[in-house]
Amino acid sequence: MTVYIDPFKTIGRIDPKLHGQFIEFLGECIDEGLWVGEDSFIENENGYRKDVLDALRALEPPLIRWPGGCYADTYHWRDGIGLQEERATTFNENFATYELDDHHFGTDEFLRLCETLGAEPWININMLSGSVAEMKDWMEYCNREQPTDLANERARNGHPRPYNVKYWGIGNEVWAGGGTMTPQTYLDEYRRFASAMPSFTTDVFEPSPMYAIACGPDGNKPRERVAWTQDFFRGLAQYRQPRINGYDLHFYNWNIDSDQDTPTEFDEAGWDSVIHGCLELEDILRDQWRLINDGLALIHEPEASMDSKLGHVDLIIGEWGNWHKTAFTARPALRQQVTMRDAITTALTLDLLQRNCDKVSMACNAQTINVLNSLLLTDGDKTILTPNYDVFMMYKAHRGATALDVPRCDPADGSVYTFASVSEDGSELLVNLTNAHMNDAVEAELKLPCKAWADSMWILCSNDPHDCNTVDSPDLIRARKIDVDSVVRQSGGMLTVSLRPASVSTLRLRLG
Ligand code: AHR
Repeated sequence: MTVYIDPFKTIGRIDPKLHGQFIEFLGECIDEGLWVGEDSFIENENGYRKDVLDALRALEPPLIRWPGGCYADTYHWRDGIGLQEERATTFNENFATYELDDHHFGTDEFLRLCETLGAEPWININMLSGSVAEMKDWMEYCNREQPTDLANERARNGHPRPYNVKYWGIGNEVWAGGGTMTPQTYLDEYRRFASAMPSFTTDVFEPSPMYAIACGPDGNKPRERVAWTQDFFRGLAQYRQPRINGYDLHFYNWNIDSDQDTPTEFDEAGWDSVIHGCLELEDILRDQWRLINDGLALIHEPEASMDSKLGHVDLIIGEWGNWHKTAFTARPALRQQVTMRDAITTALTLDLLQRNCDKVSMACNAQTINVLNSLLLTDGDKTILTPNYDVFMMYKAHRGATALDVPRCDPADGSVYTFASVSEDGSELLVNLTNAHMNDAVEAELKLPCKAWADSMWILCSNDPHDCNTVDSPDLIRARKIDVDSVVRQSGGMLTVSLRPASVSTLRLRLG
């Protein structure tokens, strides 16, 4: 296959928030996964599991969404603040978690985690069993600078400074567990909740730092997702618009049609089907982006000079990842192993998000620890990094770089996928080369209109595509830096790269 890479054919800046993460009170994502409490025999820093915290520090996730997910629909934030021993105990039924919930990880624990990691927090409010007043108080508790009762309570809980949480999700999957609403009933509710958001400004002309995220459609429903977005924006265009900055679509790469296909047992057909399944998101997001803009075009011109017209809403993919059938019956809930098949779909999903950085502004992998498309798996006091973790690490250098318009794959050879970005100073290219053939090695030819030198290359692969990292073999699949001269042949503006079967590679090129 041959790929033409023109460093001047640019798409846009890759917002680091496309590499976001999602953590929820589900299975062992937070309790046991991220949070063990100060009294645990597991090494921890103020209750956060140390090995998980260290891995996240290295990853530097730019964005973390919390507390759900479906769990957000029943979460009352007051249960999770104040002295930990005095917090409420409730029962967590979320996705068959079936555990007591002591609420020791609450708002302050989440927001301190984000501060430690340098991540932007995204809090999803409770629209189902919560109220507008409860949402407003939560925002006041987090963000009010003036010494109100709620700001003073935050100070007593150890954080005198406001947290300045910008991103707020208004409802989660309201078409299903979040209320089984129609676009119209959701919009009616959305208008009330969004209108009650405090602005946190002290000057009427100062733009509010608050960013409201509306619930977008179920990306997995081809008819419904189109109708949802059309109906939502048609309704929004009638009469005045409340604050709305983002629109959150969820898409899971379902692998639920065969009992024989499990996260670690699959044949070549099962391999191909999961690999191709993740690519659908690219068509969906392009279609949704068009529908959002068609909807915005219906909004009338303002009737008064002081009115402004809503002209833009960001598209967000708040949940994405592979979802294998066994996750439904797994204990802890929704836990699944991660092989190179999942690592490849993670790479291809990040590729397509980055390639569409002019259309999508934020995205969250579902989920970071012990749930679905995990980056980390814990087992008692042991923690392993899955190959998904390596993919995110290999891709870190794309954050803030400029995406290039490079074909997704050569149509003549549909299994080698590419993506490239150019660094902010224009001196380097980072080229992703994913060989999605389960068993065949392949050579990729890269053609450039200028001189380029292969500087370094990282590769993620395994001898057997069914391999996964376990407590007994925690580093069976690990990204490694390889000697570029052993895999890249160079002549003029052409480079030939040998790619192992079922592998993800990132090649750094210096531009002449
Ligand atoms: O990520 C697991 C669940 O999937 C989330 O709670 C929900 O939003 C989605 O259906």
